Amino acid sequence: MSTKVLAFINFKGGVGKTACAVNIAATLAKLHEKKVLVVDLDPQSNSSLWLMRPDQWREHVAKGRRSTFEIFDDAIQGKERFNFAESVVKGVVTWTGFVEVPQLHLLPASVELLKVEDRIHELRAPTVYRILERALKDHLGAYDYVFFDCPPNLYSTTKNAIFLSDSCIVPYIPDYLSLSGFQVLAEYIAELRGKYTDSAGDRRHPNVGGVIVSHYRQTGNVFRLAINELEIMLAELRTHGILETNVSLLQPFIRHCVRVAESTSEHLPVVLYAPGCIGAQDYSDLTQNFLTHFHHKR
Ligand SMILES: Nc1ncnc2c1ncn2[C@@H]1O[C@H](COP(=O)(O)OP(=O)(O)O)[C@@H](O)[C@H]1O
Ligand SMILES: [Mg+2]
Repeated sequence: MSTKVLAFINFKGGVGKTACAVNIAATLAKLHEKKVLVVDLDPQSNSSLWLMRPDQWREHVAKGRRSTFEIFDDAIQGKERFNFAESVVKGVVTWTGFVEVPQLHLLPASVELLKVEDRIHELRAPTVYRILERALKDHLGAYDYVFFDCPPNLYSTTKNAIFLSDSCIVPYIPDYLSLSGFQVLAEYIAELRGKYTDSAGDRRHPNVGGVIVSHYRQTGNVFRLAINELEIMLAELRTHGILETNVSLLQPFIRHCVRVAESTSEHLPVVLYAPGCIGAQDYSDLTQNFLTHFHHKR
């Protein structure tokens, strides 16, 4: 089985990293029978709380055990407590107690992840960037897709995800100020590619594989104009070799949909919570294109 490993990144918060990771993963599992692992790397634990009920999550990750925190804490403390089989959560429990999408797995985060950044620099490069790889490499092959839901920064945990991924996906809310942020992000990924790519592992080739427009609103032409600007910038960055030639703006754009926002507090991906809403429809169409786009990519 060839596994696609993707990191959902953007140093902006609230742009849809978690919404895209959770909802594309759930759509792949529910409508395409794919086996998908979501790895939550954000101390805010949003994808964990979207896919688990709060009491279930709190019990599972008590004291940071059985979470992605444990992976980094082990590396810092020189311990080996993390156990993948015990940590992974299989399926999504609905309020009736029924387990849906059993082939959707989650490696939850815990708030203790906040402490990692303070101590992680006690480790040296390249070890510091290979912590996730060491902990997960034997397990990724069991999945069709592995998604890293990254925090809104490009610090060490995010870099660990970038180096273990085939590609990065950048969720993006189109507006004028986000444009310069996108350029900085693309240049940073290109710099990582130049600095750290080596022959030791076939995944250490940081690149942007696709951009997903999220929270799209059709009112007025502000968004349309911002997307034109983004397309021009993508073309320029491709010309200068900062982005690879096959990077694309994935279609369709995910429209703003109140049912998606509601589904977070119901702890269900939108494909389970409100399969008929426009958000579920957009994620379903996007996932179809996503499958085609990543099918032939390494
Ligand atoms: N298509 C959408 N329509 C409406 N609200 C959305 C949509 N996608 C995400 N949201 C809401 O926007 C907020 C930010 O999205 P999120 O995915 O958490 O961003 P990030 O992970 O980049 O910080 C979330 O609270 C979520 O409920
Ligand atoms: Mg998030």
